[in-house]
Amino acid sequence: MLLHTKIAELLSSTEVDRDVTVKGWVRTKRGNKNVAFIALNDGSIIHNIQIVAEVAKFPEELMKEITTGACLCVKGALVKSQGQGQSMEIQAKEIEVYGPADAETFPLQKKGHTMEFLREIAHLRPRTNTFGAVFRLRHHMAFAIHRFFNDKGFFYVHTPIITGSDAEGAGEMFHVTTMDLKNPPKNPDGSINYKEDFFEKETNLTVSGQLEGELAAMALGLIYTFGPTFRAENSNTPRHLAEFWMIEPEMAFYDINDNMDLAEEMLKYLIQYALDHAMSDLEFLNNMYDKELIARMKSVIEKPFTRLTYTEAIDVLKQQNAKFEFKVEWGTDLQKEHENYLVEHFNGPVILTGYPKNIKAFYMKQDDDGKTVRAMDVLFPWIGEIIGGSQREDNLEKLTTRMREMHIPEKEMSWYLDTRKFGSCPHAGFGLGFERLMLFVTGMTNIRDVMPFPRTPGNAEF
Ligand code: 4AD
Ligand code: MG
Repeated sequence: MLLHTKIAELLSSTEVDRDVTVKGWVRTKRGNKNVAFIALNDGSIIHNIQIVAEVAKFPEELMKEITTGACLCVKGALVKSQGQGQSMEIQAKEIEVYGPADAETFPLQKKGHTMEFLREIAHLRPRTNTFGAVFRLRHHMAFAIHRFFNDKGFFYVHTPIITGSDAEGAGEMFHVTTMDLKNPPKNPDGSINYKEDFFEKETNLTVSGQLEGELAAMALGLIYTFGPTFRAENSNTPRHLAEFWMIEPEMAFYDINDNMDLAEEMLKYLIQYALDHAMSDLEFLNNMYDKELIARMKSVIEKPFTRLTYTEAIDVLKQQNAKFEFKVEWGTDLQKEHENYLVEHFNGPVILTGYPKNIKAFYMKQDDDGKTVRAMDVLFPWIGEIIGGSQREDNLEKLTTRMREMHIPEKEMSWYLDTRKFGSCPHAGFGLGFERLMLFVTGMTNIRDVMPFPRTPGNAEF
């Protein structure tokens, strides 16, 4: 491998007047017949380094090949720049074109492409400033999640992606099969015979790692999962993906209040981490798209999240029913418009607890009133629901009764119920939608623009 230095390092270097090698992609080339100024980017940082090439020193053919999108290796002297807008530049001594990019057909010629167009060329959009910033931030957030939990003594657990259980009820599932769909094996009654399928049973892609995460927490104490999850709902919104990543911590001996404390601490840590490690990208996104981005991030860190019960929230919302498309009363599920109202009303993140049991999952710890469960949803400015979680029902009796009421097959879930049979313990956990977090820390308005290759209804390109 030929040694080269990252542009991020060169731009902050104090050692000038030395020979360096850089490799990257041409963003722009300008100049005149004597000198060319090439803006080169290698993805290590949002900024380009300026290459100054005296045209007479290089073959004409080579200079012609240096166009937007081409990949170059440049050797030259790193010097303090005389020009405006950059601190360092490289005076080119040798240039090699690794790969030219045909100027007629390379799609990223001009600035100001629409997000919709860039989604169609998702294979090339990482080469734009915007998506370079978004994907670097995505890395920082993923890394920070592992660091946060590792530092707190949590163990990272890998829960299955292909699951034989479809009981969580978090969403519609994608089937996993190797059967011939044109001619599947049938039972005498005409139903599909899954005994003939690869796993000899019906299987799906997971909607959540929680249930398996609970098993691990009841052995290792504090765990988290961080993996892809899949939901086949036909929800074509700027906040939903069919394939998204979820972070799911599960904690033995935590109650709902400990759960809220952890969620708040984690979100603040992650936002602070972005401010500490990705400021140049945040500044770019702040200037380009969302002038409130950095201020909004800082304001979320500064003050405690508002905590209130679902019942208290309904009291607040009912007074505004005239404004809402969907009217609320005690028992209704909250819509986006209601979540938005609450975060605006309380001027920051809100954690809602004590939801009616009828609109929440079977595994949530039932309150003594028989009506509500110890659920928690964290609602965020700009995003709406960013986290969903709960304390879990640890009483076998109550859990099985609720499962019967909700028609959840006990036999299929015997492995889950075993934890309540053998050494049951109070525990709690939650799920953070990774791409919802990414929306918050990038200021992007569509979830398709924080996922490298988004999967949505009708779209599984690349
Ligand atoms: O509220 P949800 O459905 O909760 C669960 O799946 C629980 N098992 C989590 C747990 O307690 N361990 O999903 C959790 C979060 C949501 O708050 C949201 O941020 C995100 O996952 N989410 C989605 N993100 C993108 N696209 C979708 N279709 C999403 N559905 C949920
Ligand atoms: Mg939810």
